[in-house]
Amino acid sequence: MFDFALPDDTSDEERYRELANAADALTQGEPDSVANMANLAALIWSFVPRLNWAGFYRMIDGELVLGPFVGRPACIRIPLGQGVCGSAAATGETQLVADVHAFPGHIACDAASRSELVVPVLRDGNVIAVIDLDSPEKGRFSAADAQGLEGLAARIASRI
Ligand code: SME
Repeated sequence: MFDFALPDDTSDEERYRELANAADALTQGEPDSVANMANLAALIWSFVPRLNWAGFYRMIDGELVLGPFVGRPACIRIPLGQGVCGSAAATGETQLVADVHAFPGHIACDAASRSELVVPVLRDGNVIAVIDLDSPEKGRFSAADAQGLEGLAARIASRI
């Protein structure tokens, strides 16, 4: 059994450090990328509070395709450059969106989403996937969340 609950007053730094360590332990030695992404989405969901969606889009033949996630069913294919995920994939840069209604081209998969954080996963300098977090709270994500999720992306890039 895996039980990774952290106390509410855990700092963001500590929270993401524990998350990355758990992610490393849980994916170590497992070559199946779907199994690893499924467990990683579940781990993110249990470590990072106040989310309504957490999961992966994978880069396949020049577009993003939905991967394992926790949350409501989502759009399956996202062209590069479109929406928050497509922007992260096209630029290779983290997208931190405090208010999704103010982001031109935001793709609404769950009407409850108010803010979003998308981090590219890079392998050998190429974007192979993005990790997408949605929150029902406006302004939910901070620079500490972005940094923490980028650290996680670097740790698991070879496991997905
Ligand atoms: N909002 C995203 C689409 C994916 S869902 O949030 C799961 C976007 O604009 O790219």
